Amino acid sequence: FSDVENDIAEVLYTEQEIHAKIAELSRRIEVDYAGEKVLLVGVLRGAVMVMADLARELTIPIEMDWMAVSSYGSGTQSSGVVRILKDLDTDLHGRHVLIVEDIIDSGLTLSWLRGNLESRGAASVEICALLRKPEAAKVVVDVKYEGFQIPNAFVVGYGLDFAEQYRNLRGIAVLAPHVYA
Ligand code: PRP
Ligand code: MN
Ligand code: MG
Repeated sequence: FSDVENDIAEVLYTEQEIHAKIAELSRRIEVDYAGEKVLLVGVLRGAVMVMADLARELTIPIEMDWMAVSSYGSGTQSSGVVRILKDLDTDLHGRHVLIVEDIIDSGLTLSWLRGNLESRGAASVEICALLRKPEAAKVVVDVKYEGFQIPNAFVVGYGLDFAEQYRNLRGIAVLAPHVYA
């Protein structure tokens, strides 16, 4: 991975720090959903690592399902209009849904997704996001389980990509400017 190391400006969180945070969030989730069966909804593709670790850390009954969504809009600017590329296979009627995300950037994806899932008759819809960039927010999203607040930098690893690369880094790192310059 010497090439990859060269592409990293700074490690923000190590694998150990991420797992400690996921354990902390899991303990809260276990208390809040005691006696219920939670449906974890992962948002492809970024959320795969968080989902895999959160699901295995939780000691309460869970189910997992997945959605893939894509924002309409030109270039890198998210428009807030979201298209479903892969829908859930699960009927949400009466279900307690916990959306699992890697990062909240503008908040447009999650704010749309929450409304969409609520409209399907879920008993509750909450959000668990490992990272949030408060400075990048275009809409306020109420995140019940939030891992870390990070600066408005280009971060990769632990599911987060740049042009589909770096998702497999174990930690979360700031991408070196020469990569996207
Ligand atoms: C990223 C990230 C979140 C979303 C956050 O996904 O994983 O899902 O953007 O952005 P927002 O708050 O501005 O809406 P991306 O669209 O890059 O797809 P990916 O998960 O497949 O990388
Ligand atoms: Mn994503
Ligand atoms: Mg991405």
